[in-house]
Amino acid sequence: MAIPDDIFTEPEDIAPDTLANLGPLRRLAGTWASDLGVDINPKAEGPERRVFREVTRMEPIDPQPNGPQLLYGLRYHTHINTPEEKTTFHDQVGYWLWEPATGLIMQTIAIPRGQVVLAGGKAAPGDNTISVEARRGDTKFGICSTPFLEEAFRTDYYRIDITFHGDDSWSYVTRTDLALRGQTPAFDHRDTNTLRRVAAPVPNPLLGELAKAG
Ligand code: HEM
Repeated sequence: MAIPDDIFTEPEDIAPDTLANLGPLRRLAGTWASDLGVDINPKAEGPERRVFREVTRMEPIDPQPNGPQLLYGLRYHTHINTPEEKTTFHDQVGYWLWEPATGLIMQTIAIPRGQVVLAGGKAAPGDNTISVEARRGDTKFGICSTPFLEEAFRTDYYRIDITFHGDDSWSYVTRTDLALRGQTPAFDHRDTNTLRRVAAPVPNPLLGELAKAG
């Protein structure tokens, strides 16, 4: 969609209920868990395969305008352990976002290695599969990493493919291409899980405020 001349004025009639306006992201809302995730990660001796336990919370946020652009979304936190260790195995926070006017979907990722990603794709309400991707060097849907990672474990590409199984379960496959120092081809750092719903989503804060105001 063309960017309008007026980049400041926000839409006047913004529907306040995020859960009702999440389009293809609606089925991600809520709290999810599984003990059967699988991670393939790079170690000096070669690929390591680990089974992991994941809890992912996705909470509806209030509608988010950027001037005339209107986004609905979820703020998420993924926490991962392994059965063998108490320490965190992987931690990730970010947003899933949907622009109803264009069909744009986006996932932001921040992980405490010193790395951020903005991945994008297109989807429609009711889609049973959705995907977003990002490339290092792309100024729109890109990847930024700390200098150590850039040198030793450069992330060139990221994508996630999600498949919904009805309303109470979904699976993902992530592909993260890591150019390990001195090695080609890139290492295929892969994660998969099938999550099951453990709690329904809480409606976005604005709905609570509107209810209080009567
Ligand atoms: C379920 C999701 C994920 C799990 C369980 C996971 C787990 C791991 C593990 C165990 C390592 C090896 C760590 C080490 O030896 O110190 C690793 C390395 C790495 N991961 Fe992930 N990861 C996940 C997703 C991601 C994603 C989405 C990205 C980036 C988009 C990413 C980027 C990296 C990088 C850059 C490294 C290399 C850094 C290093 O080994 O020091 N990972 N990951």
